[in-house]
Amino acid sequence: MKKHIVLLPGDGIGQEVIHSAQGALTALAEEYNHTFTFETHDIGGTAVDLHETPLPPSTLEACKNADAVLLGAVGGPKWDNYPSHLRPEKGLLAIRKELGLFANLRPVKGFKKLLHASPLKEEVVKDSDLLIVRELTGGLYFGTPSERRDNGDAVVDTLAYTRHEIERIVDNAFKYAQIRRKHLTSVDKANVLESSKLWREVVEEKKAEYPDVTVVHQLVDSAAMKLITNPASFDVIVTENMFGDILSDEASVLTGSLGMLPSASLREDGFGLYEPVHGSAPDIAGQGIANPLAMILSASLMLKYSFHMEKEAAVLEEAVHSVLEDGYHTGDLHIIDGHKVGTEELTNKIIEFI
Ligand code: NAI
Ligand code: MG
Repeated sequence: MKKHIVLLPGDGIGQEVIHSAQGALTALAEEYNHTFTFETHDIGGTAVDLHETPLPPSTLEACKNADAVLLGAVGGPKWDNYPSHLRPEKGLLAIRKELGLFANLRPVKGFKKLLHASPLKEEVVKDSDLLIVRELTGGLYFGTPSERRDNGDAVVDTLAYTRHEIERIVDNAFKYAQIRRKHLTSVDKANVLESSKLWREVVEEKKAEYPDVTVVHQLVDSAAMKLITNPASFDVIVTENMFGDILSDEASVLTGSLGMLPSASLREDGFGLYEPVHGSAPDIAGQGIANPLAMILSASLMLKYSFHMEKEAAVLEEAVHSVLEDGYHTGDLHIIDGHKVGTEELTNKIIEFI
């Protein structure tokens, strides 16, 4: 298959880890007879420096014409005091909205070699393997009005959803549950919020189309507790934007490191942007020691969700398991009696496995 991929390295370690993903994908293409072509564009602080905007029109245009987009990370202290329209994160919010990426997927799975590194007890995290499906372009982060009133002494934010917005994300989540362990937890606050009542209605209606999937409704506060006391009880979780933002950061402690978590942001037709959950890590940028595995796992999600290359996606995931099992790791991970290596050496181990 021929696929054209836009690379958006962004800032800090984004520049380093994207290079690893490109190397792994190139090796995979060779091994499995695909042609992957790459085109690199600016986003975030780097784009602000070069083009005076965090999302240049040329970047957006290139993404619209690509088969998929891989993004590193954006931001850094250099741009912290820039005016809000020149903040690197603005580029990230804008590209999600412009490309219509309404479904954010975060798979969270413990790696055997890293279980001891989680702050939670090993027997609690041991069997956790869950997928958070977060609505990404609606709800509290996009609703209007969102403003200060009464000379700044009052504020309003708006949590707004349409039936259509809820239906498409819930439908997505049912589909993922169907190909996983057929268990869907819908998280809301239906005892208080009107938006959650409609959310629950939609889930109840959709249920009929997926009779093989078991559905549980759970309030967000108790879901937050259960996520760290009994994570193995979850399969797919579907929830609105802000609840998903918070729960997915909470779930990240299950894996023991930020450097291991990938994410996918998808549109209805399967087009997607893939990025690690971590940021630009300015404290270690430029030193060649960043962990490339979250970026490589994000590339694996791209192969699976956008290109339907199930086998190639699985090989990349196995490569990550395998190098960890062999004890290779970057400095952010702790493996007992392991071999600490840099970004490039760890990437080469991945490529050797492929
Ligand atoms: P961060 O994720 O960049 O770093 C947090 C800590 O984890 C640091 O000590 C860092 O060295 C370490 N770390 C993160 N990823 C790593 C990796 N792959 N390998 C080894 N160590 C890793 O979060 P922080 O420090 O809060 O933010 C730094 C900048 O990144 C800020 O400007 C922030 O706005 C931005 N950011 C961007 C995101 C994105 O582009 N999606 C997400 C989160 C933060
Ligand atoms: Mg967040």
